[in-house]
Amino acid sequence: MKKETILSGVQATGRMHIGNYLGALKQFVDIQNEGKLECYFFVADLHALTVPRDPEKLRQDTLEVVAEYIAAGLDPKKSVIFIQNHVLEHAELAWIFNCITPVGELEKMTQYKDKGRSQKDSVNAGLLTYPTLMAADILLYKPNFVPVGEDQVQHLELARIIARKFNRQFGETFPEPKPYERKPLRIMSLKNPDKKMSKTGDDPLYLDDTPEIIEAKLKKAVTTETGAKNLIETLSYFADKSVVDKFTAEQKSGEIRYSELKSVLATTISDHFADFRKRKKELLNDKSELSKILNDGAARAREIAVPTITEVKQKIGLL
Ligand code: TYM
Repeated sequence: MKKETILSGVQATGRMHIGNYLGALKQFVDIQNEGKLECYFFVADLHALTVPRDPEKLRQDTLEVVAEYIAAGLDPKKSVIFIQNHVLEHAELAWIFNCITPVGELEKMTQYKDKGRSQKDSVNAGLLTYPTLMAADILLYKPNFVPVGEDQVQHLELARIIARKFNRQFGETFPEPKPYERKPLRIMSLKNPDKKMSKTGDDPLYLDDTPEIIEAKLKKAVTTETGAKNLIETLSYFADKSVVDKFTAEQKSGEIRYSELKSVLATTISDHFADFRKRKKELLNDKSELSKILNDGAARAREIAVPTITEVKQKIGLL
């Protein structure tokens, strides 16, 4: 029987932080290692163009995400790892979806409203159509599941709406992808815990931060009620239950020492990513190996993408 498929991506916007890891990357690795699903993971470099980018930095950022995928445990022998722009069909299908998606649907997207506000003078069309490209990324592979963090659930829902609309207009083509079974997460910023941790705007905890930097960033973390909850929740993904229970109980009774919580969290996270830091450096020093992995990944991705786009073109009347 054919295995069910899972697909997800990360933007080529630089190093990943703990939010990206817990919300997405960790799940990619766990799902791959369970071995039950066919896995596709890509780097969304076309999406990264929706904000102004220095070309050299974009090239570097793209390879960093690939190195981080592999350093965290994605294995090119078990998962198809590729770069979005290497499979031209993503942009092609995105254009077709642009032509069946009302502008009003796109203007409702929270990410567009948030990012648009910060780019008031120059909101580019790519920022508006970000979700149709994301729908194309997904539907091209007809996956059963798409694991994403909580902030991307609205985009995933739009992909489902686009799939339904296309199917209604042109006949059954795209199955509706589901979020993965685990509840989508939202890890909050250390300095401003009312906002999600993000690569822009605050000081996120990067996966390859040195132990000294991790400690320094956590020292500055605010410990308001939501801040402390976020720290304890983050600890719960890395530490033994007994350690987490101790801090939870102390917080309830008001006896908690936040300096101790921060110090335990810093050590736990630094230790967890010690191998990751080493492996990422090694991978980035061997660019020819990375490029072999990516060429192979793009070829395997095209095996699925090309038949889908051929089917779509035939159904909508493109010669
Ligand atoms: P990106 O690079 O912004 O985020 C990558 C993944 O990390 C998750 N994430 C978080 N999860 C929990 N807490 C946080 N603070 C946090 N910040 C980020 C995001 O939800 C995401 O899962 N649009 C996607 C990239 C993409 C994609 C796709 C994903 C493009 N095409 C197709 C799936 C399928 C994004 O936001 O990437």
